[in-house]
Amino acid sequence: MKNQSNHGKGKGNGAQTEIWAVGGGKGGTGKTFVVCQLATCLASRGNEVILIDTDFGGANVHTFFGIKSRDKSITKFFEEKENLENLIIESQVKNLSIVPGNTSPLSPSSFNYAQKIKLFRHIKNLNADYILLDLGGGTNPDTMDAFLLADKMIAVVVPEITAIENLYQFIKSAYFRKLKSIFGLYGLKQTAKEFWGNRSKHGIKTIVDLLDRLKKESNDIETILSKELSEFSLNIILNKVRNVQELQEGFSIKSVCIKYIGVEAHYVGFIEYDYQFWRNLSLIQTAPRFIVSHSTQSEVEKIAGHIINGEQMKIDSLKYV
Ligand SMILES: Nc1ncnc2c1ncn2[C@@H]1O[C@H](COP(=O)(O)OP(=O)(O)OP(=O)(O)O)[C@@H](O)[C@H]1O
Ligand SMILES: [Mg+2]
Repeated sequence: MKNQSNHGKGKGNGAQTEIWAVGGGKGGTGKTFVVCQLATCLASRGNEVILIDTDFGGANVHTFFGIKSRDKSITKFFEEKENLENLIIESQVKNLSIVPGNTSPLSPSSFNYAQKIKLFRHIKNLNADYILLDLGGGTNPDTMDAFLLADKMIAVVVPEITAIENLYQFIKSAYFRKLKSIFGLYGLKQTAKEFWGNRSKHGIKTIVDLLDRLKKESNDIETILSKELSEFSLNIILNKVRNVQELQEGFSIKSVCIKYIGVEAHYVGFIEYDYQFWRNLSLIQTAPRFIVSHSTQSEVEKIAGHIINGEQMKIDSLKYV
């Protein structure tokens, strides 16, 4: 565990800070709920955790933690050039600190490319065991870049057809953005463009075919793409699950991801629809920490363990649900 009162002062003990980003399609799938639960879970294990609200259009991490004062928020990073480490506040959960989100819409001039890169640099320089990012819903390029910044990319979806469609859009956008940066980095843009522009001539139908075709160009390209893309691994959490049939959706999503998008997805677990939490929502402002059921706590524990250890749900495990 790192020095408790020393956020942003450099990582003295040589331990690695891990960034986890939680995103997904738009539409209230529970990204904020899940990231708050994961942050609490990691902190309760004795890790120092910083949760940053990077939902620039609809910040609400502060609400989940009953934080009323908005003296410190990420707005000050953009509009007053404040250092990110100075915007960290303690939460009521031991070991868990928070950078609250925007208090008002940012002016376009304060949120530009240079500021975004600076924010990412500041995030990487914070001192903690885990830095968790709550992303806005949808696929805008800034959200995608924050997602790709993470060591662990986590997508939250609910078992409903429209939400699952949105999830695929989200995964494709993240993957395409990653590919674009790899193509740019290794001078493959033109070749990829040529193949994609003449895809019927080259027998290319999907992005998986395009990558296969590019890999055939040379051993070097094959090595680059295999290495870079092996790092693109996604963790899927199914939220608001109401029955055993619904939680099986996670396995179907995993199959679709690999077959049609070419992305390796880990189904790291599910969280039931928590009626206790729903009933207690109005208490958030006064409760020392948000109130969830025991089953939600244990589901989140399992999910965190899976993400940390690179493990996932097994079909066999459903027999015991
Ligand atoms: N497992 C759950 N059980 C009960 N209620 C939940 C659960 N997950 C989320 N909720 C509730 O659903 C609503 C939407 O959740 P949340 O705000 O986390 O979604 P989001 O994906 O972050 O939305 P946005 O895209 O607007 O940021 C909230 O009222 C939240 O408390
Ligand atoms: Mg949210």
